[in-house]
Amino acid sequence: MLIDNQKQLLQLLSDGHFHSGTELAKTLQLSRSAVWKHLQSFSDLGIEIHAINGKGYRLSRPINFLSDNVILTALDSAARQLISKLEIFDQIDSTNTYLMTHARNNVASGHICLAEYQTSGKGRRGRTWVSPFAGNIYLSVLWRFQSGLAALGGLSLVVGVAVVRALSKLGVSGIGLKWPNDIYWQNKKLGGILIEIIGESEGPCSAVIGLGLNIYLPLKATESIQQPWIDLEQILGETQVDRNQLTAILLNELIPILEGFSTENLPSYLEEWRSYDCMYNKTVTFHLTNQILKGVVNGINQEGLLLLTTEQGEMRTFASGELSFNPLPHETTA
Ligand code: BTN
Repeated sequence: MLIDNQKQLLQLLSDGHFHSGTELAKTLQLSRSAVWKHLQSFSDLGIEIHAINGKGYRLSRPINFLSDNVILTALDSAARQLISKLEIFDQIDSTNTYLMTHARNNVASGHICLAEYQTSGKGRRGRTWVSPFAGNIYLSVLWRFQSGLAALGGLSLVVGVAVVRALSKLGVSGIGLKWPNDIYWQNKKLGGILIEIIGESEGPCSAVIGLGLNIYLPLKATESIQQPWIDLEQILGETQVDRNQLTAILLNELIPILEGFSTENLPSYLEEWRSYDCMYNKTVTFHLTNQILKGVVNGINQEGLLLLTTEQGEMRTFASGELSFNPLPHETTA
């Protein structure tokens, strides 16, 4: 956890300007060596500090901290009414893990969790989600459904649609979806969705919908990422994306879709999902738990399942698995 002194130090530095060690120590009523130790500890969080003799210290870029007030104020009333609680952590193991614990208890639907930093961010298929401090969006939503697990097929597709709609409101075009729900831009991964579900096949069930979206990935943090990646600041060529505004735009799109979601209305999203399908007609490698296939993607069927024509010329349908242009990395993703 960030201790109070570290948080205050980051807040002082968040303007991106130089601050001398003496000034920082005086404001925080700490020794200079204590300040220096805290500054050193920031590199573990993925925070880059520039130190220049005679000038002092500054962050490699300003920090725009997440704020519950700013996000809540920017929400549409439709989304606002459906949110039971919005929590923001400086540091957490994983926003999904946190809400999965809540999902097993009696916590209301519409609980949102965001974090500045995840120590054990989870990706699909047991991979790690690289989660440096205060640069990206790590967002999870707990949603309760009455319709049973079987009726949640296609949920991941509609979440992907919500993310593309939100990004296009921010002025980002050319976003693609890779079945079932990876977010791509020009063959590079911009974000991913991890949905975890518990409950009864015919009765009440709960989903934790986790979204990781790259806004700014410091190069050091990307060393372990073994696939092409991109972040929004590279796409937009802007110095900084306002993460609070973007979070509100994402929730404005996502929450009403979750409220209205049922497999009966999945068909109403399929055409839109297909228009974002960046793997359509591509030759791919398809990774199943115990098998790897090669083939050509034929899109998705009416249930949102993947259609793949294998090398042997057989058209097959899949409910799970992972597509890649190339052999998959095994350890780390983003
Ligand atoms: C993927 O592998 O593409 C899915 C990545 C999902 C990452 C997000 S970040 C917020 C939420 N908390 C997690 O631990 N994972 C998801």
